[in-house]
Amino acid sequence: MSYTVGYFVGSLSSTSINRRLAAALQGVAPKDLEFVEIPIKDLPLYSPDFDEDFPLVAQDFKNAIAETDAVLFVTPEYNRSIPGALKNAIDWASRPYGENAFDHIPAAVIGASVSSIGTAVAQQSLRGVLSYCNARQMTSPEAYITWVEEDYADDGSITNASTEEFLRGFMTEFRDHIERVLTVLPRPDA
Ligand code: FNR
Repeated sequence: MSYTVGYFVGSLSSTSINRRLAAALQGVAPKDLEFVEIPIKDLPLYSPDFDEDFPLVAQDFKNAIAETDAVLFVTPEYNRSIPGALKNAIDWASRPYGENAFDHIPAAVIGASVSSIGTAVAQQSLRGVLSYCNARQMTSPEAYITWVEEDYADDGSITNASTEEFLRGFMTEFRDHIERVLTVLPRPDA
């Protein structure tokens, strides 16, 4: 069985370390996981005024989530929470009322920061949001990544053996989590 994982990069930065982390994670993931990025940068700010008639960019965004088996959030921490662009994207995905794209979806969160906090506070915030959205989150292992530039090569490979082992283990656990959720508790529209 293979699974499609839609991933969100919470940063809009052209030099994002979280985008590089997302690439590194794909390199160490089990081979039966396929990855597709679900971009968030072109979404306008959400308003309930759009609920009657979502713009095409938001329809495409929600359709992209619907085509995945699971979602992975790779995000920085901004002022002890998640970046506004990511929260905006989640708000779009959750609406209109009754059409929440994250309902029952297997999900995992991870993030990198240049500080020792490793996005721990942002991830707690994100977990609360995803709980409300009824996503089936992997709760363990947690992954709070303090970015060490020398541990990652430009081609996306990981050059530090213990970092590679940790991230490989994270993705292996996520794969098993996806299988458990989809076997025991399939999404309603599956
Ligand atoms: C930050 N940064 C940051 N880091 C952290 O550990 N906790 C925080 O609360 C914040 N807050 C914060 C706010 C804003 C507006 C910016 C721009 C940055 C620093 C952050 O970890 C660093 O910029 C990372 O490189 C961001 O990840 P990307 O964008 O490179 O993926």
